Amino acid sequence: MSKRIPFGIMLQGPGGHMNSWKHPSVPADASVNFDYYVRTAKQAEAAGIAFAFIADGLYINEVSIPHFLNRFEPIAILAALAAVTDKIGLVGTLSTSYSDPFTVARQFGSIDAISKGRVGWNAVTSPLEGSAKNYSREKHPEHALRYQIAGEHIDIVKGLWDSWDDDAFVRNRETGQFADFSKLHRVNYKGQFHSVEGPLNLGRSLQGQPVLFQAGGSDDGIALAGRHADAVFAAGGSIPESRELTQKLKASAVAHGRRSDDLKVFPGVSPIVGSTEEEAERKYREIRDLVSVTEALRYIGRFFDHHDFTQYDLDAPFPELGDLGKNQFRSGTDRIKRIAKENNQTLREVALENTTPRSDFIGTPELIADKLIEWVDTGASDGFVLGFQVITQGLDDFEAQVLPILEKRGRHSRELIGTTLREHIELPVPKSRFADDGAGKRTEAAG
Ligand SMILES: Cc1cc2nc3c(=O)[nH]c(=O)nc-3n(C[C@H](O)[C@H](O)[C@H](O)COP(=O)(O)O)c2cc1C
Repeated sequence: MSKRIPFGIMLQGPGGHMNSWKHPSVPADASVNFDYYVRTAKQAEAAGIAFAFIADGLYINEVSIPHFLNRFEPIAILAALAAVTDKIGLVGTLSTSYSDPFTVARQFGSIDAISKGRVGWNAVTSPLEGSAKNYSREKHPEHALRYQIAGEHIDIVKGLWDSWDDDAFVRNRETGQFADFSKLHRVNYKGQFHSVEGPLNLGRSLQGQPVLFQAGGSDDGIALAGRHADAVFAAGGSIPESRELTQKLKASAVAHGRRSDDLKVFPGVSPIVGSTEEEAERKYREIRDLVSVTEALRYIGRFFDHHDFTQYDLDAPFPELGDLGKNQFRSGTDRIKRIAKENNQTLREVALENTTPRSDFIGTPELIADKLIEWVDTGASDGFVLGFQVITQGLDDFEAQVLPILEKRGRHSRELIGTTLREHIELPVPKSRFADDGAGKRTEAAG
């Protein structure tokens, strides 16, 4: 089997590591340094990376990850990047729990048009309890409820994106006809959480619709992805873990009447490249040593609603936490608890390991290229989101040392396949939900 491996890259300020801002290869203010975003996005584009990915959060406090304290809002940075790049896909995170479908459809639809069909929306349900306090709410919706809201929200956004048929805007100066109203459709959605009439004041996307990403690996997350997502940003882990998740996600797509290939799975990975094993290990240790144990406790605390882990003995087994974490990053906290138990880990080990994860992707360029290929060829993923611990060092090394090996093996090309994000990651162009289905054209779809 020989197939191109599509890559995305997370642009998250200085990098994925909580203290990446301290690393000498990146500007310390990277998360609000627009020039740095532009430089990195252009470098990734020239290297043939299919999309840039912007994560997000809606609540901070004094114990948040430092470079989250001062960072760009995703829609703003995506729009700015759309204007200065030509080919790379642009994916941004926006919460279904704290937004209105009509606004979301307009925002992503507009950036998609500005970028000529390169946009994706990473629909998340927001894990952080504190978000409610920033959105005039008394309470953060509970995990299952967040996913119900998400299902409805996305359904409406997708419906709004089909408001106009592809050829609805005639703009005929001779006849004076601007739009053909027989090609206009209203969603008329009356749901439990949102009611939206439509139509959207924006035409259909060059790529049919912006690409819908989803991130969330619980059972509810998998069901939502199967129903709605074109792509999933998944937690990395090991090959068996990722293969199991990929199989579940694709089975979920099939259960919703889609083809398994209509849903692409992109685990997040953080390669650390060295010309020798020793050099890779030295780079790993250099990054790991950017944090103290106390900072590492704070880092894992964030996943458990900012739980204070300093109250426990560092060298005792990871504490029993009951349901703590279930209403936030559920799939992530379940994983931390499970692995700690299986491996009999102490709190110190869990904190340090999660702050600077050791993965399959630390080593020589050949080893990393082999692993990436193995993941894809054994069904553990369709591609990857590169979440470098430290972006500049990570991308420079990956581009110079790993991509040429993949190119030689026919698994990568510096030329992106097409012009739209869907083409880059080999997704079909969706037909409008109002398209003629053989039984005559429908003009309305009820919620
Ligand atoms: C790989 C991955 C990336 C995520 N990225 C974000 C993000 O950028 N912003 C956000 O608010 N939530 C993010 N989430 C959180 C989820 O959207 C979700 O709110 C939370 O994980 C609970 O859902 P789950 O239990 O289904 O994973 C991410 C989750 C995963 C697994």
